[in-house]
Amino acid sequence: MKAPEIDWSNLSFSYIKTDCNVRCTYKDGKWGEIEISDSEYFPIHIAASCLHYGQEAFEGLKAFRGNDGKVRVFRMDENAKRFIRSAEGLKMQPLPEEIFCEMVRKVVRLNERFVPPYGTGASLYIRPLEIGISPRVGVSPANEYTVIMLVTPVGPYFKEGFKPTKVCISREYDRVAPKGTGSIKAGGNYGASLVAGEKAHELGYSVMLYLDPKEKKYIDECGAANFFGIKENRYITPASESILPSITNKSLRQLAKDMGMIVEERHVPLEELDSFDEIAACGTAAVCSPVSEVDDLDTGKKYIISKDGEAGPVTTALYNKLRAIQYGDEPDTHGWCEIID
Ligand code: PLP
Ligand code: COI
Repeated sequence: MKAPEIDWSNLSFSYIKTDCNVRCTYKDGKWGEIEISDSEYFPIHIAASCLHYGQEAFEGLKAFRGNDGKVRVFRMDENAKRFIRSAEGLKMQPLPEEIFCEMVRKVVRLNERFVPPYGTGASLYIRPLEIGISPRVGVSPANEYTVIMLVTPVGPYFKEGFKPTKVCISREYDRVAPKGTGSIKAGGNYGASLVAGEKAHELGYSVMLYLDPKEKKYIDECGAANFFGIKENRYITPASESILPSITNKSLRQLAKDMGMIVEERHVPLEELDSFDEIAACGTAAVCSPVSEVDDLDTGKKYIISKDGEAGPVTTALYNKLRAIQYGDEPDTHGWCEIID
C-alpha cells in the first residue's frame, strides 16, 4: 500500500484516521476473537455502563520506526499490566496480558504505513480503551466489555517540543481524591481535570501542577504526567498513592541509575522546588518536558528553575538516552522494546 500523504515532521498530538482498529469483546464469561474494523465508530447501547457510570479506562503507548526500518513498541507488557489494574479499579473485566499484546502487535502491523519515518521525531501512538457495554440503570458493573485499540501518528504533546514551559499551582483544584482513582488510568480522571487544565492554559501555563489532595504540601502530578526533579546527582520523584505509576518515569529512574545517579521516590515538599537544578514532567506523550518556572497562584510565589529558559543537562541527557533506545539508535540493554515484524 502506498505511503499516506502526511507532513510527518510537523505532526501535532492529535487524531489522524488510519487504516483500521482492533476490538475484542468479553461476553458470556469469556473474551472473544480479536476483530479488525475499518470503522471509526462503535454502536453502543444508550444505557451502557460506560456512558452512565464511567466504566472506562485507557492506556497510551508508542511504536517507533528505527534507522534500520524496524518498528519497535516500547514496554507494552507494562501497559498491559496497568490496563489490568485500571480495569480492576473500576470493577471491569481485566483483559489478559497475552490478548493485550496480541492486539498491539496486530493493530501496529495492520497500520504499519502510519508509523512515521525515522528522523521525523514522530511516532505511532497506540490508544487501548476498555468500556462497560451492558445496559445499567442502577449503579452496578456491566457483565459485557469491549476493548478497542486505535492508533494515530503523533508529534510532540506540547507544541514547544523539548523547550521548557511554565506551569502553575492552584489549591482550588484536585486532580483526584486521596484514595480515589488517581493511580489508575480511568477516563473520568481526565474529564475531572479539564477545568483546571483549561484555567492553566487561559493564564498562559502549559499545565496545572497538582499538590497532593490530602495535605496540599507535596508535589503530586504534573498535568497528565509524573514529576521529577534533579539536584546533587539525584533523580527525585514523588511517592504518592494518587499519581499514575508512569512507565516513562520508571524507565527514566533506571536510566538515571545507569548514569550513576541516586534515585529517590519520596514525598517532595512544595518548598523543595527552590532547591532543584532542573525539574520536568514525564510521560509517554511528552517523553520528558522540562519546566522552567512554577508559579503558585495562591501565594504569588514564583519558583524560577531555569533562568535562561533552556532545558538542563541531566534532563536533556535522560531524554536523549530514552529516545535513542526507543528509536533503536542505542542497544536496548533492558529489553524494553519489542520489534514488530
Ligand atoms: N500521569 C498521568 C495522569 C498520565 O495520564 C500519564 C500518561 O499516561 C502519566 C502520568 C505518564 O505515564 P506513562 O509514562 O506510563 O505514559
Ligand atoms: C501520556 O501518555 O503521557 C499522557 O499523559 C496521556 C495523555 C494524552 C492522556
